[in-house]
Amino acid sequence: MSRSGDKPHPVGQTGHPGELVGVGEDVWMDVIHKMDEVYSDLLQYEVALEEKNAKLEESQQFILSVLTAMSDILVVCGRDGAIEDVNPALEVITGKSAEALRGTAIYELFEDADARDKARQLLTVFGEREVHDCELSLRAHDGSAVPVSFNCTPRFNAVGKSMGMVVTGRPVGELRKAYQALRQAHDDLKRTQQQLLHSEKMASLGRLVAGVAHELNNPISFILGNVHALRRYADRLETYLAAVHAGDSPAQLADQRERLRIDRILDDLDPLIDGTIEGAERTRQIVDGLKRFSAIDRDEQQQFDLAEVIERAVRWVCQAARKDFQVRLDIPAPLPMIGSAGQMQQVMMNLVQNAWDATSGREAPTLQVSAEIDASAVPARVRLHFADNGPGIDPEHLAHVFDPFFTTKPVGQGTGLGLAISYGIVEHHGGQLSVANAAQGGAVFSVCLPLASVA
Ligand SMILES: Nc1ncnc2c1ncn2[C@@H]1O[C@H](COP(=O)(O)OP(=O)(O)OP(=O)(O)O)[C@@H](O)[C@H]1O
Ligand SMILES: [Mg+2]
Repeated sequence: MSRSGDKPHPVGQTGHPGELVGVGEDVWMDVIHKMDEVYSDLLQYEVALEEKNAKLEESQQFILSVLTAMSDILVVCGRDGAIEDVNPALEVITGKSAEALRGTAIYELFEDADARDKARQLLTVFGEREVHDCELSLRAHDGSAVPVSFNCTPRFNAVGKSMGMVVTGRPVGELRKAYQALRQAHDDLKRTQQQLLHSEKMASLGRLVAGVAHELNNPISFILGNVHALRRYADRLETYLAAVHAGDSPAQLADQRERLRIDRILDDLDPLIDGTIEGAERTRQIVDGLKRFSAIDRDEQQQFDLAEVIERAVRWVCQAARKDFQVRLDIPAPLPMIGSAGQMQQVMMNLVQNAWDATSGREAPTLQVSAEIDASAVPARVRLHFADNGPGIDPEHLAHVFDPFFTTKPVGQGTGLGLAISYGIVEHHGGQLSVANAAQGGAVFSVCLPLASVA
């Protein structure tokens, strides 16, 4: 707004100064000057006022837009609980306008007498203090209850006098639904994970059974062969003894002895019986090993020989199928350690199995297992290296091979849990499992474990 156009005319220039007795021209000029100054000040004030007004409007608009955008509810009330202002979120819930709500008691917003009492207590008894995350239900416009998590903060004037409260609240219904959905998803995930863990166990059990079946096949088949031979021998011995008891002549007996090859039977008996005992002993050892493996879930603290466990793991994996896979074991024995032999065997079997899988289709597939002992550490430690001549691990995958469910194997051939489970087992035994690619190619898995005492 500009007034420069209707500036008053200086009296000295258009009036009749001569009519005012005793006032000279310069006095009038002074007055006119002053008026000019006052007027220009007035103009400046007006411009400043307009600027301030515009700013005020802008900040009011800003506050309004923030209050409107808030999905949380906001109520400003006096010390007596009378509502002074509310934001649109509360208008939506209650179905009442801010105007209608102003002056009414905040307690009337709550669902039932209980909630109203609780609110009254919070706002009056603890009126000077803050209230956090107190859950009360509001009564919605359709009569339903809307659970809201409230926060109240006391409001003070410029001289620190309490003026009432600022109450904010977050409707938690949606949050609850989202939480329930999240929990459901989490439960489903846990169930799937358990199923996968189970199938990983079944898969390793399958490999184990194949290995064990092969291993048992050998002693059992020679026990069976020996027993059949013993049966045939027994028949011939019975025939010979019958001839002896019948009182046959020495010549007849010598003839029978020759015909029934009794002397050869007598020579064979010892090795046959020894072989059978050995086969039975071997079977017992295998069953022993199986028993140890079945203790996988138990948290054992037993002393066992890690070298033996590695040898058994290699044997069981290798016997399950392909014959061209070479495992070179270069480890000192014994390697006494404390923990669960069954769990350790699962780790070793998984490492050997992975090397086998990785080298399949390669020329002369080989796994080299070596060990370094650090006797200076307390307790002494062994570092085992499983180096294969497979393709190695893609550098992008190096950081993920221990992640549960990480697998590059086709669906149905790998669960991706082998290394994740092994990692946990090794850590549980106070060790570390790590992986790298060898300079000459192939993957190298290293297992560092504490020993019970140096071999
Ligand atoms: N010796 C290895 N050479 C190359 N890649 C390997 C080797 N060992 C493991 N990996 C990679 O790490 C991945 C994860 O191995 P992990 O043993 O955890 O699961 P998996 O062998 O795929 O499945 P599962 O053990 O359940 O049968 C493998 O899919 C493979 O990509
Ligand atoms: Mg595996």
